[in-house]
Amino acid sequence: MKLLSTFACLLSIASTAYAAFGVTNTGSNYVVNTNGGLVFSVSKSTGDIVSLLYNGTQCQDSSKMSHIGSGLRSRNVAASTINSQYIKITVTTPTLTQYYIAKSGDPIIYMATYITAEPTIGELRFIARLKKSAVPNGVAASEVHGGSVVEGSDVFLVNGQARSKFYSSKAFIDDQVHCVNGSGIGVCMVIPDTSYESSSGGPFFRDIDNQGTTQQELYFYMNSNHVKTEAYRMGLHGPYAMVFTSGGTASSSLNFSFFSQLGITGFVPKSSRGYVSGTVSGVSSDGVVHWYNDAAQYWIKSTGPFTSPAMKPGTYTMVLYKGELKVQTVTGVTVSAGATTYCSIASAESVPSSLVFRIGITDGRPTGFKNAANQLFMHPSDSRMSSWAPVTVTWGSMSTADFPMAQIKSINDPTIINVSLSNTTARTLRIFTTLSFAGGRPSVKVNSYSPAVPGAPVKIDSRGFTRGAFRGHGEVYTFSIPSSALVTGVNTIQISCVSGSSNTGFLNPNFIYDAVEFY
Ligand SMILES: *[C@@H]1O[C@H](CO)[C@@H](O)[C@H](O)[C@H]1NC(C)=O
Ligand SMILES: *[C@@H]1O[C@H](CO)[C@@H](O)[C@H](O)[C@H]1NC(C)=O
Ligand SMILES: *[C@@H]1O[C@H](CO)[C@@H](O)[C@H](O)[C@H]1NC(C)=O
Ligand SMILES: *[C@@H]1O[C@H](CO)[C@@H](O)[C@H](O)[C@H]1NC(C)=O
Ligand SMILES: *[C@@H]1O[C@H](CO)[C@@H](O)[C@H](O)[C@H]1NC(C)=O
Repeated sequence: MKLLSTFACLLSIASTAYAAFGVTNTGSNYVVNTNGGLVFSVSKSTGDIVSLLYNGTQCQDSSKMSHIGSGLRSRNVAASTINSQYIKITVTTPTLTQYYIAKSGDPIIYMATYITAEPTIGELRFIARLKKSAVPNGVAASEVHGGSVVEGSDVFLVNGQARSKFYSSKAFIDDQVHCVNGSGIGVCMVIPDTSYESSSGGPFFRDIDNQGTTQQELYFYMNSNHVKTEAYRMGLHGPYAMVFTSGGTASSSLNFSFFSQLGITGFVPKSSRGYVSGTVSGVSSDGVVHWYNDAAQYWIKSTGPFTSPAMKPGTYTMVLYKGELKVQTVTGVTVSAGATTYCSIASAESVPSSLVFRIGITDGRPTGFKNAANQLFMHPSDSRMSSWAPVTVTWGSMSTADFPMAQIKSINDPTIINVSLSNTTARTLRIFTTLSFAGGRPSVKVNSYSPAVPGAPVKIDSRGFTRGAFRGHGEVYTFSIPSSALVTGVNTIQISCVSGSSNTGFLNPNFIYDAVEFY
């Protein structure tokens, strides 16, 4: 009888400790017990997350903390409890407000970041610097610990393989959850639903998710100059969340509607949003519809009827992609709160009727070309890459995988295509590219005829090809080839990369191929 009651007493102490949802001011920190197995602490002097205790295991690195950018160093950190169910910690600076929110029972830090100016470091990201011993497993290609530098200060060689945080990048449209894990613990960054609405770069923008150093770094990149194609957006970024699990992948369907009760600057509830509904035509697979203006961006996958995500009211440009190739643009699509706007979109892709050849597929990606699959997570110098030596292919007997994914000045110039023609009808050579680096663009020679070299494309910041990126502005170059330049029999088409600038090795000017057509 006595033994039993002692046991009951211990049990109730344990469950009381676990169930104590609340925030404690320790003088230097706010300590939040989520009542979901996670207890986290935010420094009152810096706004950094300084402790992440999950079921008794410390997941926060002790030397480098978790925060926005390199830390906000804010002295304005406030905590409040709302409806006994939510705790809101607000870290305020003149141009950025960071929210850390707990909901009773959830082992989750819900977050949102409100900005009125781009941070001076030139990018907006949340970085969790987790304890490597608690969560040792991340993206293999981004585990750089102990490596030697291959390029810049961000590509390393480890055990004979190139590694970089950039090789963890995934397109926003496919990146709702990314995790690191260890024994019995998973930590996931969750960016659901419309939470990329204030990011920039559109549905296919890819950015860093993870890096393994002496810490395990888990990121949400809201914007950056990592192959930046459009202006940054201000306002509320997210909401997003860091979710703790017993090792598995967190669900992507987090419901943030409770944010409307918490006084979050810039949060727009679903009831104040509207929709666009319509039908995609002319794209049989891999269709994406994208809406954007200066304040917001949205997208949805569809090849038929669609309804957009819940959008902020405003006037949008609406784009249709086949893969990542833009095939239609509609401007002036207006969205009103609580209403649905009907607007269908049809592909206006110009497809030649009398094609002599097409190498690759016109999908806005280097799909199928030599080294294309590896380029996403390897430096071009990696020994697992196929040779970058100049290539000659013969139309009719070549395979797509013979053709290089990129043309790199001083490395693989020229790429030669031999094609046999039965007449000398005037032709057009059209080169679809996805990304240009350092002014790289095609210079063409057909037999002995050299059409004018196109002007330099709009410069993109910053390195892309060597850091696993392939998507830029997607220039398409068209060259008219007169009858007099052609012969009956074998014709030789040479494509080189030209640019006013030069560099060393794989940092030479280059461009990435999407497809090459001759018609
Ligand atoms: C953490 O604690 C919660 C509550 O006791 C439990 O449901 C969960 O399974 C635990 N997770 C791990 C990884 O131990
Ligand atoms: C856990 O980590 C391993 C190694 O990186 C990985 O294969 C696995 O997919 C991860 N699990 C989750 C849920 O992320
Ligand atoms: C999200 O939560 C709100 C409030 O509890 C609820 O009304 C709404 O239906 C939920 N949404 C979804 C998609 O579950
Ligand atoms: C390509 O054509 C040129 C000109 O006819 C010829 O000299 C060369 O040998 C051909 N290359 C291949 C690989 O067929
Ligand atoms: C010229 O050659 C192309 C293919 O090589 C063929 O389709 C076309 O009919 C030919 N034109 C003439 C006028 O012979």
